[in-house]
Amino acid sequence: MRLRLDKLISNMGVGSRNEIKKDAKKGLITVNDEVEKNTARIVDSEKDVIKYNGEIIEYREFIYIIMNKPSGVISATEDSQHETVIDLIDDYYKFFKPAPIGRLDKDTEGLLILSNDGQFNHELTSPKKNIPKTYYVELEEEIEENYFKVFEKGIKLLPEDIITKPAKIVDLTEKSCELTIYEGKFHQVKRMFEKVGNSVTYLKRIKMGDFELPKELELGEYRELTEEEIRILKAEDNI
Ligand code: URA
Repeated sequence: MRLRLDKLISNMGVGSRNEIKKDAKKGLITVNDEVEKNTARIVDSEKDVIKYNGEIIEYREFIYIIMNKPSGVISATEDSQHETVIDLIDDYYKFFKPAPIGRLDKDTEGLLILSNDGQFNHELTSPKKNIPKTYYVELEEEIEENYFKVFEKGIKLLPEDIITKPAKIVDLTEKSCELTIYEGKFHQVKRMFEKVGNSVTYLKRIKMGDFELPKELELGEYRELTEEEIRILKAEDNI
C-alpha cells in the first residue's frame, strides 16, 4: 500500500502526526536506512523499511482475532451499560478498531471472530455463503426423536418468515447435543428449540465452517488468528 510516511507511522499507533513531524526533524525516522525529514513523503508499506527511533515499523492494515467469548459480555463495539467483547482486548488491538463478526447473545459463549477487514466480515456473514455454524447446546428437557426430522426439514421463524435451512443435530446425552445451522438469525438456536417445546440452558459456539474453536483458548481469552486459520475461514468451499 502506498501512503504518506506520517500516516503510516501514526496508523501504527506510535505517535501523533505532530510528534512524528518533530521527531523527523531530529533525524529519528529513516526510510531504507536513510534519514527522512519529509513526513509527507509517499512510501510503499510492502517494500520500504521504515524505522522510527531505530525500531522497524511493521505496517498492517487488518487484524483478525479469535476469542472464546465468555458469558456476560455483549458482541458489540460499544455499549453504554454493558461490558463488550472489545473491552476484553488490549489497547494495541483496539487501535485497529476491530468489530465482532456475527453476534453471540450475552449469555452465549465460544467462538467469536473480531476483525477490521470489512470484506472478510462480509464473506463470513453473507447469507449467500451458507457458512455452517456449530453450537454445543444444553437443554432443559430431553431431546425427542422427532427433533432430528423437524430440524432437518426446517423451522419457520417469525417475524422473519423464513424456513431455516436443514439443520443437523448430533445428540451427545439426553439433554445435550451439537447443532449445526446455516443462518445467523437473532437468537436462532434458542428459538428453534422453543419451537419444539424445549429451552436452551447453555449455548456455546464451537465451529464456523471448517474452523474449530482452538482448545487452548480459555473463556475470555483471545489471540490473533494465524494465516493458516484465516485461510481455513476464507476457504472457497466455506464462503
Ligand atoms: N443462537 C442463539 O440463540 N444465540 C446465539 O448467541 C447464537 C445462536
